[in-house]
Amino acid sequence: MSDDPIDPERVSEKLGDCGCHSEPDAEQPSIYQEFWDDTRGELKRRDYAKILATVGGVTAAGSLVAPSLGLAQVFERSYTGPVYSDGVALVDANGETITESALSEGEQMTVFPESHPGIDRAPTLLVRFAESEYGGETNMEFTVSGYAAYSKVCTHAGCMVADRDGTTLVCPCHSGRFNPLSGAVVTGGPPPRALPQLPITLSSEGTLIATGDFEGPVGAGGE
Ligand code: FES
Repeated sequence: MSDDPIDPERVSEKLGDCGCHSEPDAEQPSIYQEFWDDTRGELKRRDYAKILATVGGVTAAGSLVAPSLGLAQVFERSYTGPVYSDGVALVDANGETITESALSEGEQMTVFPESHPGIDRAPTLLVRFAESEYGGETNMEFTVSGYAAYSKVCTHAGCMVADRDGTTLVCPCHSGRFNPLSGAVVTGGPPPRALPQLPITLSSEGTLIATGDFEGPVGAGGE
């Protein structure tokens, strides 16, 4: 067995073949309430399950201590090449492509590059707001029909940015906050930089596709 506390295979073992946590009825901390209430929460539950599974394996967190939740780094990608490229479809957990009507304004979901499926590759937050709400640091050329896509991997220590507070994206590990209406810039907490934005557009079939890779490094480091 690997000593890597975030060994993806070990996480998969804990999640089981379905990727689900083995105790779905367990009472959840209130901080995750919205996380669980999301009607598109299946992926988020998987993220949460990964956090739970990983916490059990963490033996040394160094300076990456989350005093309130006991969470530390929960994401590490062994694959370091390009994640998306021009024409790569965004897909859901079942590998289904995402149509323009998939989300209403104010909603979000987790998607993946069709070419690199799985949460250990490139979890991506797809959000939708009225186009007029975007501004600031948002690269509007990277958006389409009110959709914007950002890496879901926190730039502080690699946790999943899985919570929401109004329109703000929140990382549960150390309360990092990002504004998806302004290029996912940091608005609170310790993350050193914004979540990198993914350039997206609609294909001729009306499904969301990337037009390139993330505009910056995914996850912790990379400054
Ligand atoms: S990992 Fe520390 S705020 Fe996200």
